[in-house]
Amino acid sequence: MIEISKDVNRAAELLRNHEVVAIPTETVYGLAANALDEEAVRKIFEIKKRPLSNPLILHIHDLEKLHEYVTEVPPLAKQLIEAFWPGPLTLVLPKRNTVPDIITAGQNTVAIRMLNHPLSLELLAKLDFPLAAPSANPFQAISPTQASHVVNYFPHEIKMVLDGGDCAHGIESSIIGFNHEGKAVLYRLGSLSVEEIEKVSGKLIMNKKEEVITPGMLDKHYSPRKKLVLVDDIKKWLQENTEQQIAILSFNTKYEAVNICQQEILSAKGDLHEAMSNLYNAMMKLDEGSAELILAEMLPNTSWGISMNDRLTRASN
Ligand code: TXA
Ligand code: MG
Repeated sequence: MIEISKDVNRAAELLRNHEVVAIPTETVYGLAANALDEEAVRKIFEIKKRPLSNPLILHIHDLEKLHEYVTEVPPLAKQLIEAFWPGPLTLVLPKRNTVPDIITAGQNTVAIRMLNHPLSLELLAKLDFPLAAPSANPFQAISPTQASHVVNYFPHEIKMVLDGGDCAHGIESSIIGFNHEGKAVLYRLGSLSVEEIEKVSGKLIMNKKEEVITPGMLDKHYSPRKKLVLVDDIKKWLQENTEQQIAILSFNTKYEAVNICQQEILSAKGDLHEAMSNLYNAMMKLDEGSAELILAEMLPNTSWGISMNDRLTRASN
């Protein structure tokens, strides 16, 4: 049975013994293993049922370590690091040979971030290796934002989840790479808003669809098992569809109709960051409920709303 605890020493011991441990971060929980130990990393892919062609993020706690794993840090990357590390920003940079091919799926770049969660920072400081960690969910499912979500996904497959409480941001890190001119390219929308990043980077280049290299960019991802339909006007939809039992995912509005059997309001006070931190937990609750269909509304398309709309769109595919 899986252990749920705050015991950082126990987590460190398991990781040194080539085991996989779920760890808290400020974005979502990760499924972590010694990034320099190919066999341990292989277990992550097996547990997640993730294709080996999808590369992993390397997590560090100390800026000094960055240079052990990458050959070059463009000036703009330095500015972004200064502004956002430790934090929810993953950078894709040219890798050193110290990084095993299994982490990068054989590419010559590595995705790396300095995470920001007190327990996992303490854990990393005890280890003499970085942690490879994808989100701690089965491939294409909704990412976990609480220790209990990880337990529900992997009750027998892993030995321990380090319980760091609810994740502060609630969706994955933003991922940025650099083109040959050193300009910043956004690979994945995430828990830093585009506005926040652009204050430092200037205008971001949006990664083109035909250049899909991150599964976060796959059309279908972050998916509940039930059908999720995104609608512009929930009120109108309810007037036209009175038969089916439905669940509703809304930003700040409480809807009334006889066929609503469950409703999750992401932020009653209309705060986009609060809505983001509640999004995945709300999606999981609706997925477990009795309704046949989840009806979701788009969030205001600004700041974190843009990242959430990206996740909702993929969840509806
Ligand atoms: O917030 C997060 O980023 C969480 C926490 C645990 O840190 N991790 C996470 O990992 O979301 P994962 O594996 O679910 O998503 C990592 C993304 C994938 O879309 C992967 O393709 C992309 O990072 N990625 C990894 N290495 C890459 C590389 N060299 N070039 C481009 N994308 C890369
Ligand atoms: Mg993931």
